[in-house]
Parts: sequence; C-alpha cells; structure tokens
Amino acid sequence: MRGHTPVLLDEVIQFLDPKPGGRFIDATLGAGGHTRAILERSTPDGKVLAIDQDESALAGASETLASFGSRLAVVHSSFKDIGRIAAENGFLEADGVLADIGISSMMIDDPARGFSFMREGPLDMRMDQSQELTAADVVNTYSEKEIADILYKYGEERRSRAIARSIVKARPLQLTTDLARAIERVMGTPRYRQIHPATRTFQALRVVVNDELQCLETFLDSAMTVVRSGGRLVVVTFHSLEDRIVKQKFRMPPVPGRVLTKKVVIGTEDEVRRNSRARSAKLRAWEKS
Ligand SMILES: C[S@@+](CC[C@H](N)C(=O)[O-])C[C@H]1O[C@@H](n2cnc3c(N)ncnc32)[C@H](O)[C@@H]1O
Repeated sequence: MRGHTPVLLDEVIQFLDPKPGGRFIDATLGAGGHTRAILERSTPDGKVLAIDQDESALAGASETLASFGSRLAVVHSSFKDIGRIAAENGFLEADGVLADIGISSMMIDDPARGFSFMREGPLDMRMDQSQELTAADVVNTYSEKEIADILYKYGEERRSRAIARSIVKARPLQLTTDLARAIERVMGTPRYRQIHPATRTFQALRVVVNDELQCLETFLDSAMTVVRSGGRLVVVTFHSLEDRIVKQKFRMPPVPGRVLTKKVVIGTEDEVRRNSRARSAKLRAWEKS
C-alpha cells in the first residue's frame, strides 16, 4: 500500500458501514487504504469523493486505485473546504465522511519533506507544497516569545522557553538536523526507549505550519452539515490536542446528532504490534439525527 498502512481499518469500516450505492467522502486520501476498503465494501456502484492537500499522495493513490474508474473522484484541497467541495461534486447529503488526519508514512519517510528529526532534510513540513509558509520561516523569523508560545501550546513542551532560546541562538537553521541539535542542546541526547526530545517541538511546528487545529475545527462543523440525516462522521486523530477538539465538537455539534463511541476507540494490541503508528491513533464516530 505504497508505504502507508491504514490504521483502525476494521473499526473505520464498522462505523462507516459502506453499502452498494453509498456516497462517501474520504477527507484524507493519503495512500488510499481506507478509500480502497470503502470502495470494495460498496461494490458495485458506491462512490468516494477523496480529498488531500498533498499532491503527491493524490497522484500515488489515483494510480493505485485506477481500477475503480469513475467510482472515485479526487480533489486537491484542504479538508476545511469540504462544504464547497461536496457541493461542487454532488456529494451533499453524503452517507459518511472519514478523516484520518495528520501526516502519512510517505511524508515522514521522505527526508525532502522535512517532517522527521531522524532524517536530514530541509525544514519544510508543508503538507500542501503549494503553500508559502515553511518550518524554516517559523524558526528563523518568528520572535523567541512566539516560538516559545507555539512549542508550549501546540507541543505541550514544558521546556518551551529554553528550547526557543536555543533555536534563536542557532539561527539560521536550514535542516531538520540543525533544529534537532538546537533542541538537544537543551534536552540532552535521546536515551534508549525514551520518547525523542525533539518530538514535541517538531509536532508543534507542524501544527502551526499547516494550521492543523483551525482546519480541523472548520472541517468538523462543515462535515456534520454535509452528511445526510443518519449519515456518519468518523475521525481518527494522533495527538491529544486534536482528539480534544473532536471530543468537544461531538459533544456540542452545530447540528443535532449522537456520539457512537461512548469511549474512544484505540488500536488492538495486535494492530499496534504490526503498525507502530496505530499506537497513538484514536477514533471517534458521530451520527447525524
Ligand atoms: C494519515 S494520512 C491518511 C492515510 C489514509 N487514510 C490511508 O489509508 O492511506 C493523512 C493524510 O491527510 C492529509 N491531510 C492532513 N491534513 C489535511 C487537510 N487539512 N486537508 C486535506 N488533507 C489533509 C495529509 O496530506 C495525508 O496525506
């Protein structure tokens, strides 16, 4: 599957419950693993409208899913515009919407995308490469206080001030490894089996570069409007800030509905053993009244 294993696949399918003739929106196509399962379950005539802001993901998935022909339509955009995209493509009153947010394994594994502190590459971190703002812009031009606030707010990093100071001192930073070293100067080198000290800073920068939390809020409001009555919204998140937003929105939706996941759904031990990305995955599902 082009280097990305879909997480919580059985659970996603159980909640979306795709049937022949159904119309589904996959707001985060990625490598297309979830979309493939939806199309297979809705054979012969179910349809998927798939969105991704990463053009290389769209190109790859369109190729691997080509055999589904016109049952799959893809759109390059942020999922925050799902309302407009659904209207333009005849997918209002959809039977289900899925978002499996965050970054794909292809993005993490490609040093040129700059998402990983383990791989030397430019400080980029843009999911949509047509956008201007990069992680290099943030670390090299934002004030020390702005950087500290970002690390604290979006990375829940307790040493945010000291790391921000070290970043500003190390300017100009060009590579992921320049940033990792600036962080290590404060946090020390990673110890065996410990979470890497750069994890929270990289997460925070990624969230800001891609405006992830605001996009998620806007998306949830629109997606709840886009699904039909009785239709379902299934969201998979990978860190606590995102999960909190989903949980709160499901509790206080803009339109009436009910939460299908009284308790958040997480990967089974077996899945986590097979796919380490599943370790932090959390699924919540909602049904419109
Ligand atoms: C975890 S991957 C999805 C994997 C996919 N479910 C699969 O089975 O292969 C997340 C994808 O969401 C995309 N993405 C993240 N935020 C987005 C946004 N705001 N708008 C559109 N796509 C987004 C990323 O580009 C990435 O390809």
